[in-house]
Amino acid sequence: MVSVQSLSLSLDDKPILKDISFELGDENNLIILGRSGSGKTVLSKTLMGFFPPQQGRVIIDHVDIYQNSSTALESDKSQFAIVFQNAALLDSLSVFQNVALPLYTRGEKDLDRAKEKVRQALFEVGLEDASDKFPAQLSGGMRKRVGIARALVYEPRYIVFDEPVSGLDPITADEVLYYINRIVESKTATTITITHDVRNLERVGDMVLFLEAGEMLYYGGLDKLSQERSPLIRDFFGFDSI
Ligand SMILES: Nc1ncnc2c1ncn2[C@@H]1O[C@H](COP(=O)(O)OP(=O)(O)OP(=O)(O)O)[C@@H](O)[C@H]1O
Ligand SMILES: [Mg+2]
Repeated sequence: MVSVQSLSLSLDDKPILKDISFELGDENNLIILGRSGSGKTVLSKTLMGFFPPQQGRVIIDHVDIYQNSSTALESDKSQFAIVFQNAALLDSLSVFQNVALPLYTRGEKDLDRAKEKVRQALFEVGLEDASDKFPAQLSGGMRKRVGIARALVYEPRYIVFDEPVSGLDPITADEVLYYINRIVESKTATTITITHDVRNLERVGDMVLFLEAGEMLYYGGLDKLSQERSPLIRDFFGFDSI
């Protein structure tokens, strides 16, 4: 459960997030929308413990993650995994090694267990036969899926997908969405998806948070969005004005 209360954050003295409050239950999956520069990535990183806010609180599973306790912060970070926009794979490592990396950096000692976890994560994104390939040998969609496997490998409670399909052609985007949707449906993790692709929202989540210049213009069910009156939101989705 994520509870954000009156959160305001400035970076380099510039206000980025302004008085944001929302609650996300464990059964929900969040979609963050908004124009470029509206604060989507900063908000997700603030939930992950990277930016201490000037005001307000971020409570993850009943722990105020910025409350002076470095242990709480560390445990929060370990609950989150992020799939970066550019997949961020290390070119000199094989697919298997890229996916194994988080286990290694977290000090997993049991090698057989680690190998099994990597195999399982690759299987979940349909890449069980690509273990020995190197990133340069992969298509854009496959690279994204390796990024997803790397996020899955240590069984996080929360996964952030930051623009998972931007820059992909529609067919490849669909293929990546298929695997994200499986994670969303399986409820093994609560997902937070930042996206510009308004066509496939129901596949990635059920709750929508819409940001505009750091302010939350909308928070609520995806199914209620079409009743929203804000002209900006209607315009964003191509709804007729009401
Ligand atoms: N580490 C940082 N230090 C200072 N300012 C930052 C930092 N990261 C982001 N910003 C600023 O915060 C604002 C919001 O950035 P953010 O990356 O969250 O936007 P976004 O909604 O994710 O945009 P996009 O859709 O283009 O990815 C921008 O003005 C950006 O310049
Ligand atoms: Mg961003």
